Amino acid sequence: MKIGIDKIGFYAPHLYVDMTKLADRRNVDPDKFTIGIGQDKMAVAPITQDAVTLAANAALGILDEQDKNDIDFVIFGTETGVDSSKSAAVYVHELLGLNPYARAIEVKQACYGATAGIQMAKAHIAMNPESKVLVLGSDIARYGLNTPGEATQGAGAVALLVSAAPHIMSLEDQSVYVTSDIMDFWRPVYSDKAFADGKLSNEQYMAFFSKVWQQYKAKSGLGLENFEAITFHLPYTKMGKKALKPVLEETTEDVQERLKANYQLSTGYNRNVGNIYTGSLYLSLLSLLEQKDDLAAGSRIGLFSYGSGAVGEFFTGILQNDYRDHLHVKQHAELFAARKEVTVDEYEAIFEETLPTDGSRVELDINNDPAKICLAGVTDHKRQYVNKLR
Ligand code: CAA
Repeated sequence: MKIGIDKIGFYAPHLYVDMTKLADRRNVDPDKFTIGIGQDKMAVAPITQDAVTLAANAALGILDEQDKNDIDFVIFGTETGVDSSKSAAVYVHELLGLNPYARAIEVKQACYGATAGIQMAKAHIAMNPESKVLVLGSDIARYGLNTPGEATQGAGAVALLVSAAPHIMSLEDQSVYVTSDIMDFWRPVYSDKAFADGKLSNEQYMAFFSKVWQQYKAKSGLGLENFEAITFHLPYTKMGKKALKPVLEETTEDVQERLKANYQLSTGYNRNVGNIYTGSLYLSLLSLLEQKDDLAAGSRIGLFSYGSGAVGEFFTGILQNDYRDHLHVKQHAELFAARKEVTVDEYEAIFEETLPTDGSRVELDINNDPAKICLAGVTDHKRQYVNKLR
């Protein structure tokens, strides 16, 4: 039985800051951000968006009534969840009006959470071929104003519908995963900003990719020539390029050129959104599929997932016949086109805005947020979400 990705949705908040303007303000050469790090625009989440609403908006764009009825498992990967107890998946389940006879859980391992979700979904579908699983990767990446990590912030979510007989990509069974206790990036429970040992995190990302790739080759007997493209978790778009470069020497120039060109296409969306942590790998996959209109059905795509701390996994999928008919290219192009630039001053003010933590009531103005699902306020320590379509 084929199991894999049936639909992919994406949502980013409607605001962004231009990286050249941020570089100017920080007295940094803009080329460092746009070339050295590889980011052009950074999504900025208004206070009316959080990990829950971003994910719900991403899923809203792809699910039909049949899907809502068939989904019996919601797996929410996030490292910027809104509650230490209640899962973000339960909120999304309600906001989307899903079948009540469903499981809903949150999964955490830094940027790896959604990949764990996909693998769990695959096992669930193998046991229950009629069901569908909604896997969400949603985050707001925050390091702080004027920090080295600032240029690698971002916000957004990807929603993946996993099913039997998938329309977009079937997942192959070979997969290599590895865990090692490393303090390269972390966020203690008392902090709303992440800490990173930037140099160590870059080194470990590359070391993990090298490790899982070598092991994958030994296990599968396949090599780079068997891949049309390899997509990466992208904390910033230069990162995957740095990891891919050393292994390219294993293959012919033709294959190198193909993988490099497809890598470039797989970074397009991420370059304009920033790091969305758990969703980043899947945003990169989406970027490749939606921006390259001649990727042949039957092509094998590699996926490298990396969650600091750290867990890495390399797995693969095969593009299905007519997969392009099941993408939402126009919807995503419209989403990018409708975004609004904010100045650096406005971005800084939005960054500093916080919700009360003392139980006091706040009502937020959701009229300025074009998203259909928004955070409308907080009352008695309870977040109040609104689906404007209801
Ligand atoms: N023109 C062109 N390039 C320039 C330049 C210029 N004027 N100035 C600098 N550069 C280049 C540098 O040469 C460097 O390139 P290489 O990496 O190819 O050597 C690049 O720009 C970045 O420069 P620095 O290394 O000096 O940058 P930095 O130390 O200020 O910060 C960072 C970079 C470490 C990634 C930092 O943004 C950070 O800490 N980010 C958060 C952590 C992170 O994203 N880690 C990635 C791996 S961890 C992971 O993947 C999980 C996750 O999502 C967080």
